[in-house]
Amino acid sequence: MQNKLPNELQLDMSGYIDKVFFKSSAVMSELPDCSVQLAVTSPPYFNVKDYSKDGYQNDVHSEIDENDIGRLNSFDAYINSLLPIWKECARVLKPNPRNFYAQNSCEFILVLVKDGKPDNNIPEDVKEASKLSQSEWVEYTKQIWNIPIPGKGDIAFGEHSAIMPEEMARRLIKLYSFQGELVLDPFTGSGTTLRAAKELNRHYVGYELYEHYRSVISQKLTILCAL
Ligand SMILES: C[S@@+](CC[C@H](N)C(=O)[O-])C[C@H]1O[C@@H](n2cnc3c(N)ncnc32)[C@H](O)[C@@H]1O
Repeated sequence: MQNKLPNELQLDMSGYIDKVFFKSSAVMSELPDCSVQLAVTSPPYFNVKDYSKDGYQNDVHSEIDENDIGRLNSFDAYINSLLPIWKECARVLKPNPRNFYAQNSCEFILVLVKDGKPDNNIPEDVKEASKLSQSEWVEYTKQIWNIPIPGKGDIAFGEHSAIMPEEMARRLIKLYSFQGELVLDPFTGSGTTLRAAKELNRHYVGYELYEHYRSVISQKLTILCAL
């Protein structure tokens, strides 16, 4: 299956498709309004992890960025800093009953939908290629998912302190997007969502504050090509 985008997305996307921007996602000026089908993310934890340190939280790899939401000590400031990012997500997302973004610190998954008229012109072959198998439907629609947290098998283990299980991103992308669509992660971290999107024949765009993670993100995306 070709990684083809739906017609209405054949705009000038050369500036942002399959790219990662190392900057705050509070202003995603690279992304036009209504340009993304799905956002899958795990936001920075409140006052738990220091993303300027390695995965073991021992060694400092970068100077703390003033836009790092995880560094904030006041809960109000934390919530207030997340708001502009959710607003940006709402701006760049297309109306789509399949849209969602995921995960808070209790490991609940929030599925949120942008209001509006969805595109209903998904070609039949794309629908067919994106179909879940019967066993996937049974498993993915369960109220509780039993997915282990990433261990040493994850390329980013020890590099990033809050890696999302790839299986979680994979299930959410399969449930809420079609092949060829564009998936956003405004808090890319080690690139788990982007890797799952690429593996599932979707396009991706990510934002991450710390350029330090460029190498692990690129490893996640490159090793996938070698599989
Ligand atoms: C919970 S981690 C995401 C982990 C990712 N899901 C993974 O599997 O590796 C949150 C990430 O958000 C980044 N971050 C914090 N504030 C940000 C901001 N304002 N804009 C973009 N990224 C930010 C942190 O550096 C951290 O890597």
